[in-house]
Amino acid sequence: MPADATDTLAARFAGKRILITGGLGFIGSNLARRLVWSAAKLVLVDSLIPEYGGNLFNVADLRDAVQINISDVRDVHSMRYLVRGVDYVFNLAGQTSHMDSMTDPYADLDINCRAQLSILEACRANNPGARLVYASTRQIYGRPQYLPVDEKHPLNPVDVNGINKMAGERYHVLYSDVYGIRSSCLRLTNTYGPGMRVKDARQTFLGIWVRLLVQQKPFEVWDGEQLRDFTYVDDVVDALMAAATADRAVGQIFNLGGNEVVSLVDLARLLVETNGGGQFESKAFPADRKRIDIGDYYSDYKRAQEILGWTPAVKLSAGLRRTVAYYREHLEKYL
Ligand SMILES: NC(=O)c1ccc[n+]([C@@H]2O[C@H](COP(=O)([O-])OP(=O)(O)OC[C@H]3O[C@@H](n4cnc5c(N)ncnc54)[C@H](O)[C@@H]3O)[C@@H](O)[C@H]2O)c1
Repeated sequence: MPADATDTLAARFAGKRILITGGLGFIGSNLARRLVWSAAKLVLVDSLIPEYGGNLFNVADLRDAVQINISDVRDVHSMRYLVRGVDYVFNLAGQTSHMDSMTDPYADLDINCRAQLSILEACRANNPGARLVYASTRQIYGRPQYLPVDEKHPLNPVDVNGINKMAGERYHVLYSDVYGIRSSCLRLTNTYGPGMRVKDARQTFLGIWVRLLVQQKPFEVWDGEQLRDFTYVDDVVDALMAAATADRAVGQIFNLGGNEVVSLVDLARLLVETNGGGQFESKAFPADRKRIDIGDYYSDYKRAQEILGWTPAVKLSAGLRRTVAYYREHLEKYL
């Protein structure tokens, strides 16, 4: 969402220096767009590894207003330099593919676990006063034991990505508790909107659905009965900004969630309806995916409501409409 002086949440960052790791990715670029008018300095760090979600087109409209640093968060020396002097670090860089974490577990370990520790160490050594927000994930709960899932639910990741993201999150809490590095963690659920990877299903199945729909090709729905909640990216950006600026959020973990719970087949129908046409086929789950599927999931996000004053505002139908409209216009930049 384009921001302006009526954006009171973004106004909290007036004159501040901000670092966004993963800033050329889906959520990072949307956050940058909201912050760009108020921040004194906005640095986006991203490795642009081709298979990941970074895309320079995500920030094409911001190029003159932000500083882009093509660095890898695994590079300890770069991170030590980059965290110096910033007021806020939004730590969003990550390997996000669950399947990739199973086929190449060490890359996931290095990015989602070890590099997170290096970022915190860099802050401890060079900028202990920085305020951090870490993008964690609902994946770390694994298969829900009860629904909706609140923050007290046991953590039982079903894939390597979940284990490393869990460690990344715990480091942020630990450094807050032990060293006073003020950080907060948000456990995001499925996030969607303009800027998400649609080339393939690496980031989210919804991405490939949108791509095929816009290309007027049928998409596949696996199983279809699984329940999920979805957060539109603008709502996630609100939560990131609220967490960064709430004193009561320091050292704390919050679920994000959606305002509707929907089965995947109903989501597919809604998407087709939003598009004004399209087709999908229902198929059985491929065996390699089924092994790491979590079944039904939706979040209890009352803590975020109480402490951050955050509630997801964008309805699924409206979010899907904006998403499809975006990719109708810009699909070729994401292929
Ligand atoms: N999108 C979702 O549904 C969702 C759900 C739960 C958690 N999250 C978390 O939110 C964060 C942002 O996700 P996103 O959806 O914007 O994904 P994304 O892939 O679009 O963004 C992540 C960015 O990190 C960059 N990156 C990856 N490895 C890097 C490295 N080693 N060094 C520097 N940059 C690197 C990528 O190039 C990409 O631009 C991730 O940490 C992800 O785990 C996202």
